[in-house]
Amino acid sequence: MERMKEKFDKLRTKKDVLILSIESSCDETSIAVVKNGREVLSNIIASQIEIHRRFGGVVPEVASRNHITAIDNIFKEALVSANVKKEDIDAIAVTYGAGLIGALLVGVNFAKGLAYSLDIPLIAVSHVYGHIAANYISYKELTPPFVCLMVSGGHTALLKVNDYNKIKLLGTTVDDAVGEAFDKVARVLGLPYPGGPEIDKLAKTGKNNYKFVVSNSLKNTLNFSFSGVKTEVVNLVHNASQKGVEINKADLACSFQECVTDELSFKAIKACKQQESKKLVVAGGVGANSRLKEKLSVACKENNIEFYSPILKYCTDNGAMIGSMAYYLMKDGLGLAELDLTAKPNVDL
Ligand code: KG4
Ligand code: ZN
Repeated sequence: MERMKEKFDKLRTKKDVLILSIESSCDETSIAVVKNGREVLSNIIASQIEIHRRFGGVVPEVASRNHITAIDNIFKEALVSANVKKEDIDAIAVTYGAGLIGALLVGVNFAKGLAYSLDIPLIAVSHVYGHIAANYISYKELTPPFVCLMVSGGHTALLKVNDYNKIKLLGTTVDDAVGEAFDKVARVLGLPYPGGPEIDKLAKTGKNNYKFVVSNSLKNTLNFSFSGVKTEVVNLVHNASQKGVEINKADLACSFQECVTDELSFKAIKACKQQESKKLVVAGGVGANSRLKEKLSVACKENNIEFYSPILKYCTDNGAMIGSMAYYLMKDGLGLAELDLTAKPNVDL
């Protein structure tokens, strides 16, 4: 380990650092090669969406098996597409959590094998922080400090990113993650998995007739609650189907989306004001939501705040964001993992 720590420390001052990064926390097998944390030389993603769509959501065991089948070819493709040889790689990075344990283990074990055989450092990266780094590859000039609105399938939070590795939690969801609520509402409306993008599409043709509101109890905090509005939609659909009444799915999708995006943008701006931050950064899959981006960009303009959201392909899970985060961990001397690294279903924000 001492020898590896020395190698790792040398990278901190090396001019060009190539990191090969692996992401397998859910239903995307992705491997990227990232140079100096900002330049994506390749970012190969094998999505299992079509496989899981049949089941209406991700089946963990099926996800693990498909990661195993895909990962070796994705690795080879990532090298070819980056036009580098495996000997050119300086470190291997991998998502160790949060996510599905079986899925994560495929990436973690593959990464350990690679790091061992190439005799280079292994860097363990939190998936959640990886989502923040998706912005560093989208905007080369973006640097901390900033406020981050983290909106994914597993997390919903407001964070103050004081520095690359100094991140403070300002508020979080007390129940469902917002992506989870999008997926559940989509499912009850009979839309395919993953539901978020489907709601986004359908909502464009609907009206905000239902005018849902979130509970008032968290108004003075930076915490979120989405289970109330989610349950309201579910009950409405079930009652209508029991009574044989037609519902307007587009209006329901639009009303749900208006409600949650109002809440997210209201609290994000509130956090910026509280923190006196002039930069707001969005991270995670729900950051792809067109209405959320629209509202945040207007609200930021009104409040003289710079607004950043990752370019679409880096919003949802990908290896490149893990490679970027790994670089900044390494720069601060953090993240070096031993070969007993294991996967974790949950990680602290
Ligand atoms: O960040 P992500 O790819 O995976 C996790 O780390 O959870 O986020 C996936 C979530 C899913 O819930 C998906 O429905 C949601 O992001 N999502 C969206 C949109 N695109 C993806 N939600 C709303 N609108 C979208 N356009
Ligand atoms: Zn994710």
